[in-house]
Amino acid sequence: MSKPETAPQTDPAAEAQAAVHVDEVAVRFRTRKRDVTALREVSLDVPMGEFVSIVGPSGCGKSTLLKLVAGLLKPTTGTVRLRGDKVTGPRHDIGYVFQRAALLEWRSARRNILLQAEMRKMPSAQARRRADELIEMTGLRGFEDALPHELSGGMQQRVALCRALLHEPRVLLMDEPFGALDALTREQLNVEMNRIWRETGTTVLLVTHSIAEAAYLSNRVVVMSDRPGTIREIIDVDLPAERQYSPTMAKPEFSRVTSRIRDLLGAGAAAD
Ligand SMILES: Nc1ncnc2c1ncn2[C@@H]1O[C@H](COP(=O)(O)OP(=O)(O)OP(=O)(O)O)[C@@H](O)[C@H]1O
Ligand SMILES: [Mg+2]
Repeated sequence: MSKPETAPQTDPAAEAQAAVHVDEVAVRFRTRKRDVTALREVSLDVPMGEFVSIVGPSGCGKSTLLKLVAGLLKPTTGTVRLRGDKVTGPRHDIGYVFQRAALLEWRSARRNILLQAEMRKMPSAQARRRADELIEMTGLRGFEDALPHELSGGMQQRVALCRALLHEPRVLLMDEPFGALDALTREQLNVEMNRIWRETGTTVLLVTHSIAEAAYLSNRVVVMSDRPGTIREIIDVDLPAERQYSPTMAKPEFSRVTSRIRDLLGAGAAAD
């Protein structure tokens, strides 16, 4: 088959296929007081539609890696590509969920979700329709008009998730989004996350400290070393996309993955 004339010459087909392509990246932070190498020789390819979790010790560069993909930070060396394009600045075709929901206290749940549309100047009818779908999907129906302080922590995270998904990003970046929640709410949101990922087909990069969360949600788990962060191993999770919670946890493949992560992270790894 002949190549279409418009094919970008700098993007080999394999790179264009990858939702996220991180190539030999290093990040060094130089401040007056210290010189920190946060990441070293990090290479990672995430195909479209894949769910990848990143686990590793505190300070090993996980958030730094997400910020590189979002274009909020530039690598010291190496390149990052998003759907074939070199990332050179903040990207608008991603969704970002932070550890804390970061909602505006004076705006209702719905208006916090619609903030995304205002920032991106989306047509308002389309944005409202999508917001309604997401409110339904995340079980927030009935709380659209509540202010953030009237919502539980889990509901606030759901609002943040809706906001990150409003513009239907092809790539969703999540940095410990469920870290501040109690265990049961977290499990419930994990189940919803699995469904939302299947329904939206979005590519997800999730940073988490929970080994169970990583194994339950992902196609692959990236295990990082202590700083300077390098990739120690990428573990394939051989489980179907649709995962019920308890039955999945009972599977030998789930135990194999969690044990392997724990072995790689060492004794200090979180037990949840
Ligand atoms: N803007 C910055 N300026 C200077 N140093 C930074 C900056 N951002 C991160 N660092 C340093 O880079 C290293 C990696 O930080 P990063 O936030 O990526 O870690 P992390 O893996 O997300 O940790 P945690 O699990 O605790 O969130 C740390 O040593 C941190 O101090
Ligand atoms: Mg972090």
